Amino acid sequence: MKKLFIIANWKSNKTESEAKNWLREFITSNPPAGGQISDKEIIICPPFTLLSNLKSYIKENNLPIKLGAQDISPFEEGSFTGEINGKQIKEFADYVIIGHSERRKNLFENEDVLVKKVTMVNKYDLIPIFCVQNDKTFIPENVDIIAYEPIFAIGTGNPDTPENAEVIAKKIKEKKDNSCVLYGGSVNSENINFFTKMPNINGVLVGKSSLIPGEFLNIINNA
Ligand code: PGA
Repeated sequence: MKKLFIIANWKSNKTESEAKNWLREFITSNPPAGGQISDKEIIICPPFTLLSNLKSYIKENNLPIKLGAQDISPFEEGSFTGEINGKQIKEFADYVIIGHSERRKNLFENEDVLVKKVTMVNKYDLIPIFCVQNDKTFIPENVDIIAYEPIFAIGTGNPDTPENAEVIAKKIKEKKDNSCVLYGGSVNSENINFFTKMPNINGVLVGKSSLIPGEFLNIINNA
């Protein structure tokens, strides 16, 4: 059976107390124990401000959840005001999202900067989750997890069809041997299985629906 990545992208949401409540509710809804979901890698990508606390809660409660960052500095440590570098992220997380269309659009991230970010992710032994908007989007070297996220589907409640996502996933895999391709864009507990049952889709990147603990748990269970 293929391993599925179920990734929560919390974006710029949740304070510390809101994150604690999320975790509390998630735990009381009986999430699967580690051994029961060895075929699913569950990753939460919270804002930087929550990485440290979430790491502690996850450990205290022995939850089968890994952490990811939503961004990384293209620079090393040093005089780069506002940046969070790979060495700092590595203390808390295993994964980093790079190339999300919201950052490409709002923060003007271009291919040059994305390549630098991938370099930093790999240098610090983190794993990049590289977002592409279609099968023509440039993908840097040394990226093995690619999330296909069509812009029309993000946060709109209007997902791509699983059949089209499968076609794109297959095309991406033809370009990038041995890669895992995820789908993202308006995934919820009702449509998840239509995506994850496609042979070339290795998981999902979930925004809005990951903010509600019960819904995220249903996504995990239904995948
Ligand atoms: P959405 O976001 O699930 O809210 O559409 C997905 C994403 O942007 O990663």
